[in-house]
Amino acid sequence: MRNPTSSSSLSFVPATDGRKPQAAAAAPLSEFGREMRAGLARSPRSISPKFFYDAAGSQLFDRICELPEYYPTRTELRILGECAGEIAGQIGPNAEIVEFGAGSLTKVRLLLDALETPRRYLPIDISGEHLEAAAERLRADYPDLVVQPIAADYTMPLVLPAPMAGAGRRVGFFPGSTIGNFEPDEALAFLQLAARMLRGGGLLIGVDLVKDPGRLHAAYNDAQGVTAEFNLNLLRRANAELDAGFDLDGFSHAAFYNAPRRRIEMHLVSRRAQSVRLDGQDFAFEEGETIHTEYSHKFTVEGLRALALRAGFRPGAVWTDPERLFSVHWLAA
Ligand code: AVI
Repeated sequence: MRNPTSSSSLSFVPATDGRKPQAAAAAPLSEFGREMRAGLARSPRSISPKFFYDAAGSQLFDRICELPEYYPTRTELRILGECAGEIAGQIGPNAEIVEFGAGSLTKVRLLLDALETPRRYLPIDISGEHLEAAAERLRADYPDLVVQPIAADYTMPLVLPAPMAGAGRRVGFFPGSTIGNFEPDEALAFLQLAARMLRGGGLLIGVDLVKDPGRLHAAYNDAQGVTAEFNLNLLRRANAELDAGFDLDGFSHAAFYNAPRRRIEMHLVSRRAQSVRLDGQDFAFEEGETIHTEYSHKFTVEGLRALALRAGFRPGAVWTDPERLFSVHWLAA
């Protein structure tokens, strides 16, 4: 355990032979620890949503996707299912599919089923172990497909393997409106990176649309409280992994639609004045003070196309559902 009175990264090892205790270097903070400490020190406080997804957080997110209020997942699946033929026509035969932030490799199956002889699938995800297990299941179901997982952070420049002999277009797949979780400059940077990686091919991207604020509010404030659990799990994770001192009953979930910025904002709100200890440092919270945990930007079809154009893509076909809740875009690179 960390020495609770020291803000240095030293802990004290008790001497067992009567000599004075010795200082020993504690394990350095993980990336999560470093970002949590920096996020609590800045004003306003914030932490990246990428840290939601430990094992418990990933399970909670899977439950969110099934909630009656959370329309994006089922609407995107419906679009991919109903428009699969047209999408496959756009992509062409023998394609190589590169999925960004692939997770459990479920949505891509709809695409693979519709494509003419897909050649190779390159799922990129930071969680290598999870990815390899999912890749194994996919290989069993698609024996003619070369499945080559890449354990990496897809927001960083990355050299992809050279195209296979006889391969068709190289196509990126970025479903789930994850682009909405980026800051606007990060979204542009990611699209620029993708445009360079996919030159000569294209990107198939799922994007949530601007809509009635009531509908958006409900999707991030579900009646069962699963989204609240998902948000609070960040503090549970900090307690478990970083030995932080968050009182989970001392914080509550808040999510609201910021209409001028066209985004849902999620925060954790301190329910009272309190102090939280992390890595030997105390962080004072006033009642009502928040830690910002996520943006979920919503787009218009035209807005996404304009952003893609700036990033170096040529926007092509767009598929939506009858209520225009969600959109899937073909962007030629
Ligand atoms: C992963 N991402 C697109 C989800 C979203 O809707 O922004 C994450 C999420 N946060 C709360 N509910 C779902």
